[in-house]
Amino acid sequence: MDWEAVEEAGRILREGGLVAFPTETVYGLGANGLDEQAAAKIYAAKGRPSDNPLILHITSMEELVPLAAEIPPEARALAEAFWPGPMTMIFKKTPLVPRGTTGGLDTVAVRMPSHPVARALIRAAGVPVAAPSANTSGRPSPTKAAHVAEDMDGRIDMLVDGGEVGIGLESTIIDVSEGVPTILRPGYITMEMIRRVTGRVEVDPASLGQMSPDAHPKAPGMKYRHYAPRAEMTIYRGAGPAVSAAIRKALARAKEEGRRAGVICTEETRELYEAPVKECIGSRAKPETIAHNLYDVLRAFDEEQVDCIFSESFDDSFLGSAIMNRLVKAAGHRIVECGE
Ligand code: TXA
Ligand code: MG
Repeated sequence: MDWEAVEEAGRILREGGLVAFPTETVYGLGANGLDEQAAAKIYAAKGRPSDNPLILHITSMEELVPLAAEIPPEARALAEAFWPGPMTMIFKKTPLVPRGTTGGLDTVAVRMPSHPVARALIRAAGVPVAAPSANTSGRPSPTKAAHVAEDMDGRIDMLVDGGEVGIGLESTIIDVSEGVPTILRPGYITMEMIRRVTGRVEVDPASLGQMSPDAHPKAPGMKYRHYAPRAEMTIYRGAGPAVSAAIRKALARAKEEGRRAGVICTEETRELYEAPVKECIGSRAKPETIAHNLYDVLRAFDEEQVDCIFSESFDDSFLGSAIMNRLVKAAGHRIVECGE
């Protein structure tokens, strides 16, 4: 790592500029989180709706105190267990946090990342760093510097290249601002892991992707079509053999109709399909590989210029709900249930 570049990036952030940087989840697009004008540049660069709030990134619990009006005991326990790491918590905000970064809400999302480059950058900036994923709004999140360059070239002041990220899916978001801790977006930190710490946890139904697209999820960002490749995508859900049979049928139909089709398959199932474009997303035996490759695979289909994408589903692994949440959105809720 070029640590001098990180210092320089910190200076750019302090002075109101935009810097893309790696975290352990996905690449973030950072700005000074206490400066409304800097945050406004994030919305412009991403083409993001201004009612969609940003996450503030910090490096220590001391930095949380001026941002959160209240830190409930359950939040302290969760921070103790999972920070630094891929977890974001929603708190009631203090007046220090401008509404321009919270999409007009009275709450603020805060995360303490573990990636050494992200941590060094936040320290160098000396301010909480507001950072959404560094993709154009609606596109798959970036897991490599090349993805960021694809979307953000010419729109940002600096891109800090830290290689590929580790996890590949955005952080778990937990609302701790009132009542029972509630998962607004599933991620690497699972419901079971949270329950072990707090004893109680709820899940915002919208986070499971089973809600109608016009419902009102608590995380405003969850209502938009997201993570989407350009081609129409369909998810096939059900028992393995029924899924692969249905996908083979869909491939045959696409061929007849002269449409260029792509398939999302796994190490375990790749031999089952014959398709113009086949993307192996990882191994079912190692769900973390599926999480890691998901966005890269979705972007690859854009380059291959397919007309339609057929995907297997992944409900059954420990990262299953996080993976399916992203896939279902990428597919715009187009799901085919496959019978026995
Ligand atoms: O892993 C991550 O969380 C990455 C890295 C860069 O840290 N960041 C990320 O940010 O995924 P973004 O902006 O792409 O997604 C943030 C999500 C959005 O769905 C947004 O609506 C929600 O968090 N959010 C932010 N502040 C909120 C708040 N005060 N209340 C409810 N939801 C909030
Ligand atoms: Mg995002």
